[in-house]
Amino acid sequence: MCGIVGYVGGRDAVEILLNGLKRMEYRGYDSAGLATLRAGKLAQVKNTGKVQALADRVFREWSEEFREGMHIGIAHTRWATHGAPTDANAHPHLDKAGKIALVHNGIIENYAGLRKMLEAKGHVFLSETDSEVLAQLIGALYQGDLLQAVSAALLQVEGTFGIAVLDEAHPELLVAARRGSPLLIGLGEGESIIASDAAAVVSHTRNVIYLDDDDIAEVRAGTADIRNLHNVPVNRAVSHLDWDSGAAEKGGYEHFMLKEIFEQPDAMRNCLRGRLDDTLHTSVLTGLGLEPRDMAAIQRIVLVACGTSLHAAMVGKYFIEELAGIPVETEQAAEFRYRNPILGPHDLVLAISQSGETADTLAAVREAKCKGTLVAGMCNVVASTIARETGCGIYLHAGPEIGVASTKAFTCQVTALFLLALKLGRGRRLSRQQGAGLVATAKALPELVAATLKLNDKVAAVAETLASCRDCFYIGRGILHPVALEGALKIKEISYIHAEGYHAAELKHGPIALLEAAVPVVALAADVPGKDKMVSNIQECRARGAPVIAVVSEGDEATLTSLRPIVQAIIELPKAPLHAVPVLCVVALQLLAYHAARLRGCPIDQPRNLAKSVTVE
Ligand code: G6P
Repeated sequence: MCGIVGYVGGRDAVEILLNGLKRMEYRGYDSAGLATLRAGKLAQVKNTGKVQALADRVFREWSEEFREGMHIGIAHTRWATHGAPTDANAHPHLDKAGKIALVHNGIIENYAGLRKMLEAKGHVFLSETDSEVLAQLIGALYQGDLLQAVSAALLQVEGTFGIAVLDEAHPELLVAARRGSPLLIGLGEGESIIASDAAAVVSHTRNVIYLDDDDIAEVRAGTADIRNLHNVPVNRAVSHLDWDSGAAEKGGYEHFMLKEIFEQPDAMRNCLRGRLDDTLHTSVLTGLGLEPRDMAAIQRIVLVACGTSLHAAMVGKYFIEELAGIPVETEQAAEFRYRNPILGPHDLVLAISQSGETADTLAAVREAKCKGTLVAGMCNVVASTIARETGCGIYLHAGPEIGVASTKAFTCQVTALFLLALKLGRGRRLSRQQGAGLVATAKALPELVAATLKLNDKVAAVAETLASCRDCFYIGRGILHPVALEGALKIKEISYIHAEGYHAAELKHGPIALLEAAVPVVALAADVPGKDKMVSNIQECRARGAPVIAVVSEGDEATLTSLRPIVQAIIELPKAPLHAVPVLCVVALQLLAYHAARLRGCPIDQPRNLAKSVTVE
């Protein structure tokens, strides 16, 4: 995810900016850049690749003598959203006159309209980014007062931003603002540091101000004057950071995995942003590049993926078949490429991959393309190989995932598949009214996930039952069957407990032989079709002495009454519409796996033998 650092003070700005960027490298990025003032003129360097490459270039091109007097500047690491990772798309971006520089995190949703308006006025754009549109808009509105120009521009934009702006005409001033994208200002002795992440600030000062949405600040050495976008002063308290820099990278969480689990409401908001149409009651998936007629021609969908992404595909199959009535097959990507799949001109192959680099999924893409099928990607990493080779698809916008065990990518994949099912469904059999109900479900998802995360302490206590076992089962039916598979995968990956995900009905065709008091069963009995049968399946497990942890929906008194007397623990998920249930369920299982692994003292973020991205067959 993008990172911002800004500095104004008495020290060497370039060094502080580069160190700040390095502190944020853990977030993942594809390019980096910085701008500063030299003798009252803007100087900037930006390129794709690592911060070290940027640093090497800066020190090569700017001699010590040249860098003398550089005491103010802004810097950025970019995680591509609009436009590929190229030097031109890297930040900072400049206004038309080249006198104002901006770094931006977030997404300007109405950038296309603003860009057209500016182009009509003679602005020429050097990048494909939404951020350059904002930089040029600020320049177009500038009449000598930077704060005023930035406020005026921000009042015209829709979307999210965390920004820092530097202006040749004000060599002692940075302007910072935020909406929906974090930004804080560290206040040191005679210096100030703006950053999107406390990790870039803690080594300089512990005194920070967190900006709220629609705050805009004039930041000078050691001071920050904060207003709202209508120029009314606002009071923001100075907080004291008590993290060390390692903890700061993890946002105060013990592990990246836990941080990413808790980031899910925001990740899903980003995934949904700009993709819901309240007029036609459908979703907007422009990256697919398909007209309603093309969508209507699709007769079969093949979802190919590996690992967690394959489990997301299996949930997606339920969504698409139910809402759109299109047959869907899910296939393990390695198998797909080797078994000479039968594909036709009316099929859509959708490759689902967080990294966009998984070798087997990529090979499946190539095989499907070779057979003349329509192929699209669903990736998190922008401009990754699968995203490039498919040329069309749906980005997750989940932000970089650092923990090897995938969490927020999974929930965003399921969210994106729901949007796809809605789109295909509205193009076929769903009425406006049904569409409106599904749009409402999508909008409710982030809050429902946030409510599920409140179960953390309860789930941590339940995890004690699992932490000491050697083997366990996860069972589910219907749309919760793939969730059981994913729950079992999570606990295997990070706690090394042998877990099997099974269809609850299949249990009696073999695995039930393994059940005994030392083999707990996590049973997904939340409120989806099939839950009544789950109660019988749970009874079968209990009859063999296996302890059961049941996942149930709040308010489902019938199920709760039957299960309370027989199970060892109950996790009650918030009451939710049907299509949200698999997402809430998986969030509870992520927490369960996390706490079991924590209790066992496992290296949660880097489990043995696993890689985040598997680029070999
Ligand atoms: C690896 C990771 C898994 C991931 C799988 C597919 O095995 O450890 O967490 O689900 O690859 O990765 P992808 O990037 O294609 O989603």
